[in-house]
Amino acid sequence: MSSDTLTVVDNRTGREYTLEIVDGTIRATDLAGITAVEGDGGLMSYDPAYLNTASCRSAITYIDGDAGILRYRGYPIEQVAEHASFLETAYLLLEGELPTASQLATWEADVRTHTYVHTNFAKFLDGFRYDAHPMGMLLGAVGALSTFYPDAKQIGDRESRYLQRVRLMAKLPTIAAWVFRHSRGLPFVYPRNDLDYIGNFVNMTFEIGGRHEPNPVLQRSLEILLILHADHEQNCSTSAVRSVGSSNVDPFSAVSAGIAALYGPLHGGANEAVLRMLDEIGDVAHVPEFIEHVKGGGGRLMGFGHRVYKSYDPRAKLIKQVADQVFEQTGLNPKLEIALELERIALEDEYFVSRKLYPNVDFYSGLIYQAMGYPTDYFTVLFALGRLPGWIAQWEEMLVDPATKIARPRQTYVGPDVRDFVPMDQRA
Ligand code: CMC
Repeated sequence: MSSDTLTVVDNRTGREYTLEIVDGTIRATDLAGITAVEGDGGLMSYDPAYLNTASCRSAITYIDGDAGILRYRGYPIEQVAEHASFLETAYLLLEGELPTASQLATWEADVRTHTYVHTNFAKFLDGFRYDAHPMGMLLGAVGALSTFYPDAKQIGDRESRYLQRVRLMAKLPTIAAWVFRHSRGLPFVYPRNDLDYIGNFVNMTFEIGGRHEPNPVLQRSLEILLILHADHEQNCSTSAVRSVGSSNVDPFSAVSAGIAALYGPLHGGANEAVLRMLDEIGDVAHVPEFIEHVKGGGGRLMGFGHRVYKSYDPRAKLIKQVADQVFEQTGLNPKLEIALELERIALEDEYFVSRKLYPNVDFYSGLIYQAMGYPTDYFTVLFALGRLPGWIAQWEEMLVDPATKIARPRQTYVGPDVRDFVPMDQRA
């Protein structure tokens, strides 16, 4: 018998089954053949939150959570963050290989050509209340893009997919910057195609009266942060994009679903939650008390813990280096002291050590964004800008995978058995 099989005995019937193992997985559908009585539908696997279920085969991002390893298309994240630009990283994720100089030039030019949004977009954004959360605006605005580009429905057409990819990459910075301006009551600044991707975004965000003095260190730091966020395999938002995309909806709608998932405080919203937590702690002297509060079940230490990383998140390590460079330019963020003390205590404390809770990507990123001048409720928008190439790459990989079907999990029904409808006058 081949060693790449699993033999199981169903103790209900005494029957033995041999299941094939491929790439360290068995197929859940093979379990359907294991029946106790004829017609019972067979066994299913029960895995809420997909703790141990591979939902796809992917060649984009590799993570070893125990060893703290993250690679894009095989390249270690440390090397990509040091050497690549954000658009180069996006190309790598989308195409599978690093671009040549001319491929990169074409990709950059294509993106630069599509940075403008329809003028109706300004009116559309104006419709949001003055205090609308930037992530709520972003997800609505990206969903609305599908109404401006009905041709995006041609998801089976490779050329059309490339055009939507370019549109998304080109327009998200414009929309994100305009969301920022709306929150501040500032007039929208149009894209400047003489600037690079990051420079243009920063300019659309911060330009006042036609003037903005770019800081190259801060711009490169922002670029590194976006690179570190560019993909993270089957996380909550990417799974949302794949799942929604599996219905064959257009990519703007699918990415909008990803933005909605990212908004949540257990996912991308954690960077915002970290800052609120640091504000609540207020002073480094209150850190021990706060740690006890968390250990007593009073809440979570935001920016700590990860479903996959059971050691130091490699992105958090790199972000700490970026923080040093940024604070050299902006002066120290006073909350850094509280964050460092939280980390110091948590890394020694039995509660966190035994649960393998280490700082994740969101623990320090908010401090950096704040030092750069972004308000707390805007941090997750920056995460979304970074994650976009990953969402698109995973969406396209899903579409061309012959194994793809519409996402449709099963359930174990635990509700009441059949019963007769009770008329209103007979209900207790
Ligand atoms: N603070 C305190 N305790 C925690 C934390 C935390 N941040 N995270 C997990 N735990 C405890 C949890 O209470 C549980 O303890 P017990 O076994 O006694 O019940 C144990 O650790 C395992 O937790 P879990 O909820 O089963 O772990 P999970 O893999 O389902 O959750 C997580 C992963 C990221 C949702 C969680 O660690 C968390 O809520 N962290 C805080 C939010 C956060 O920083 N999210 C950003 C994640 S990284 C970037 C991203 O995805 O956007």
